[in-house]
Amino acid sequence: MSFSISIHSSKGGTGKTCIAQNLAYAYAMDGKNVCLLDLDLKSPSLFSGLFPVKDCWLNSVLEGRQEIDDVLVDATREMGTKGRVCVGYSNPDIAEIREISLKDRRWQSQALQKLIDCKKKLFSSGFDVVIMDSSPGVDYTSVNVVACSEYVITVFKSGESRGVQLVINGIYKPLEKRCFAIENMNNGVSSFSFEDQIPVPVLARIPCMCDVSKYGTKKLFTCEDPAHPFSKAIFNLKDQIC
Ligand SMILES: Nc1ncnc2c1ncn2[C@@H]1O[C@H](COP(=O)(O)OP(=O)(O)OP(=O)(O)O)[C@@H](O)[C@H]1O
Ligand SMILES: [Mg+2]
Repeated sequence: MSFSISIHSSKGGTGKTCIAQNLAYAYAMDGKNVCLLDLDLKSPSLFSGLFPVKDCWLNSVLEGRQEIDDVLVDATREMGTKGRVCVGYSNPDIAEIREISLKDRRWQSQALQKLIDCKKKLFSSGFDVVIMDSSPGVDYTSVNVVACSEYVITVFKSGESRGVQLVINGIYKPLEKRCFAIENMNNGVSSFSFEDQIPVPVLARIPCMCDVSKYGTKKLFTCEDPAHPFSKAIFNLKDQIC
């Protein structure tokens, strides 16, 4: 069964991109055909150059100027995975980022329809898993990504339970999403008091690790160091989702 996962957070810098790219590789190593999409339209990550890039962007797909197949880059050979890995990127050009920030509600609802169409097309062309890295926060560019996915993983840092509750109760639940949480950069102290418990399963509590902080999004831990505790946490996460 094919499915899509959006990786979202109420605040920035919680580790979404690290998790998205490592999870994509983990699924592909399992033989799944994976499509990894950088839908952080306001702050494109380009996945730190870990995967090959071409001068084609998801922005054009959302504008209806190109099809999803035209903008994806096949990274399977470089990655050496059992399953296929294809990557789609948001345009990092400053003018394009500004352009996206100015889009109105009507454009955003058309973009949501395009995203839903893309996902269907990806499933029908043989992708098993679509992983969508989103912008943090609650504006349309983020909520569209959440709205078009089957599963939502909300990533939060220790001590940020308030924001997590707001996105769960204010966005994921009204959209009737299956959601999970990951506490990342855990410092060994529980973030939650009893009343603060979040109403979704917390699939992982990943410690704050010097290596991850040092290499960040520039290293694909699940590929280069599968025995690393961060990689193990990602493999475990994958097994819990599907
Ligand atoms: N478990 C961890 N331990 C230590 N550092 C981490 C951990 N996870 C992520 N980081 C660091 O946190 C920083 C932010 O990570 P990342 O870019 O993946 O976050 P993000 O949520 O995608 O950010 P943004 O909201 O800006 O897109 C990176 O420098 C990364 O190295
Ligand atoms: Mg990011």
